[in-house]
Amino acid sequence: MSVAKGNYKKVTTLSLSEMKQSREKISMLTAYDFTLAKIIDGAGIDVILVGDSASNVMAGNETTLPITLDHMIYHASSVVRAVDRALVVVDMPFGSYQGNSKEALNSAIKIMKESGGHSVKLEGGSEIIESVKRILTAGIPVMGHLGLTPQSIYKFGTYTVRAKEEEEAEKLLSDAKLLEEAGCFALVLEKVPSKLAQKVAESINIPVIGIGAGNGVDGQVLVLHDMLGMTHEFNPRFLRRYLKLYDEITGAVQSYIDDVKSKRFPNEKEQY
Ligand code: KIV
Repeated sequence: MSVAKGNYKKVTTLSLSEMKQSREKISMLTAYDFTLAKIIDGAGIDVILVGDSASNVMAGNETTLPITLDHMIYHASSVVRAVDRALVVVDMPFGSYQGNSKEALNSAIKIMKESGGHSVKLEGGSEIIESVKRILTAGIPVMGHLGLTPQSIYKFGTYTVRAKEEEEAEKLLSDAKLLEEAGCFALVLEKVPSKLAQKVAESINIPVIGIGAGNGVDGQVLVLHDMLGMTHEFNPRFLRRYLKLYDEITGAVQSYIDDVKSKRFPNEKEQY
């Protein structure tokens, strides 16, 4: 299947803004390594997020909290080496920006210098706005992230839908406006009611990219390993699986084991 790669030879923050204006939906997926990043970039994805979900998906941690700045730089630099077209956004890990704005700026500069990524993403609104502003003063593009912010999981207690109550919904909308005013180029909204997400997307001029936030936003993001079905125990309502790779890979590995044990592999043509 061929997919239109839009008008953009290289996707930039400006391209995303133009996509919002022209109502072209933005496609975004995570990647943490060279091989998969090369495939999804070649397939025409607009934005690649080197998410701190690497902590769960790559390292097997229960939360995103343990991943470090150096781990994120390792993943991001592998992705950047693979990419020709997509905009690469790198998550700032827990503990690298919440302390104070100077620490945030130093962490963002380290990511940009050592990974070659094109922008960074931070979780939170008013609480981290000074850090966002300071990073922006260095010319580093910033993507915001509101709603379910997994780095605050111990504050929330669960991964359920956020901002169902009016007070939290109002705070989310005002945080979205604050991030736009500060100069963020886009915003991720995770696991919030679709009506609220649509209202946010209609209230601000920067693109809003949703995950579990319905279809009224400007684009969608999923974790690549989830949408490919490499993971199989995580089944939230918002997740559409396009492949069942967990089953496919299991079957392939079992066939290989059988072939080795029964001496069918390698055959005569597969040796020197
Ligand atoms: O780390 C991540 O994968 C993310 C997405 C869920 C948006 O932040």
